Amino acid sequence: MAAEMFTFIKDIFVPKASKRAPLRTVVLIFAVVCGLYIFSICIKQQTNIFRQPNPLQIQVIDRRNRACRNTQIEEEDIPYVHFPKPEAFSRQECVCNPVRYFVIVSMQRSGSGWFETLLNSHINLSSNGEIFGAQERRNNVSVIYKTLDKVYNLDWFSSASKNECSAAVGFKWMLNQGLMKYHEEIGEYFKRRGVNIIFLFRRNLLRRMVSLFANAYDKEAKLLNGTHKSHVHSPHEAQVLAAYKPTLNTTVLVSHLRGTEQMVTKALKWFKSTRHIVLYYEDILTNRTKLVEVQDFLKLPRRNLTSLQVKIHRGPISGQISNFHDVQKTLKGTSYENFLNTDYKL
Ligand SMILES: *[C@@H]1O[C@H](CO)[C@@H](O)[C@H](O)[C@H]1NC(C)=O
Ligand SMILES: *[C@@H]1O[C@H](CO)[C@@H](O)[C@H](O)[C@H]1NC(C)=O
Ligand SMILES: *[C@@H]1O[C@H](CO)[C@@H](O)[C@H](O)[C@H]1NC(C)=O
Ligand SMILES: *[C@@H]1O[C@H](CO)[C@@H](O)[C@H](O)[C@H]1NC(C)=O
Ligand SMILES: *[C@@H]1O[C@H](CO)[C@@H](O)[C@H](O)[C@H]1NC(C)=O
Ligand SMILES: *[C@@H]1O[C@H](CO)[C@@H](O)[C@H](O)[C@H]1NC(C)=O
Repeated sequence: MAAEMFTFIKDIFVPKASKRAPLRTVVLIFAVVCGLYIFSICIKQQTNIFRQPNPLQIQVIDRRNRACRNTQIEEEDIPYVHFPKPEAFSRQECVCNPVRYFVIVSMQRSGSGWFETLLNSHINLSSNGEIFGAQERRNNVSVIYKTLDKVYNLDWFSSASKNECSAAVGFKWMLNQGLMKYHEEIGEYFKRRGVNIIFLFRRNLLRRMVSLFANAYDKEAKLLNGTHKSHVHSPHEAQVLAAYKPTLNTTVLVSHLRGTEQMVTKALKWFKSTRHIVLYYEDILTNRTKLVEVQDFLKLPRRNLTSLQVKIHRGPISGQISNFHDVQKTLKGTSYENFLNTDYKL
């Protein structure tokens, strides 16, 4: 094949020389071809260098040039500030209000439903719920990216979508909804698009387990007049749901708690280079200043946030597990023993 090609080149360029010094000609032609090839690579690289001195800078100039030249943005904030152009509507007078992208990363029954209603009570924030709860939106990375693009372009419509004056847009994403599975690609997306992560976990994983079992039970039992509810809005409803006391399998209890704990550790490690904040449900319950911290993190104007949701399980955990004494015995001496003692004084 190579020999054929050289003969071909020889025939075109040096029809006569070939008779006298075939080897020298071949070497010469080879050297010329190599030289041209190396030269072309150099040219290509140089133009690349000239084209993208700093991609970020160009993006920013673009954004400012178009419409929002006067928007003041601090240097370190540049990657996190966006001016989306939704397809479905115009941002009108807020077209130059910067928008921040966020995601609430959490686990089921860790207070994220309640937390999201608190955030959504802010006039400038839209958190669109558990959009990756639906399997078909997380079958592969390309469909995940497509969904994310839609949300962050303000083109995702849910009951939480606000108006053109949203200053922060996001949703909540459970660890087991494709986030761990595609963590590399998703982490890359978060960094590329300047997404902020709000980690929300629960310290007391035993209470989380009780809530998981109670919620799973209610899916079948439908204690509230035949409808299943994961979150409630009155103390009466909370009381009805809390009346169910699950029995925990003590054989697998410790390994389940450890598994959950390890998953949280992994998530924190995998996404640690994305801009983030770590919150715990228990801290928000007892310290509302945490909500100010969240608003500052998203650079939102501070507001008093409210939720109509009512906590389902209150009081000491001993009254919430039917085989509490076995559970107590099982956890004694383990690192999870303190889960038995903490109480909410609410
Ligand atoms: C990704 O999943 C979506 C549906 O969830 C499907 O329509 C699409 O064909 C899939 N793409 C690839 C590359 O598998
Ligand atoms: C928040 O929303 C209000 C009302 O829609 C709007 O006037 C204001 O400019 C928005 N603030 C930000 C920071 O976008
Ligand atoms: C069931 O419905 C009745 C009548 O609508 C209402 O009074 C009652 O509070 C409901 N019970 C629960 C547990 O929601
Ligand atoms: C507890 O879990 C183990 C392992 O899955 C299972 O073999 C056992 O039957 C369970 N015990 C009860 C009481 O359900
Ligand atoms: C409440 O939260 C704020 C913000 O994170 C923190 O600075 C403060 O120390 C907390 N207060 C208590 C009593 O933990
Ligand atoms: C929030 O509520 C507190 C007490 O009710 C009040 O002092 C404060 O001014 C309110 N802050 C805002 C931003 O509305």
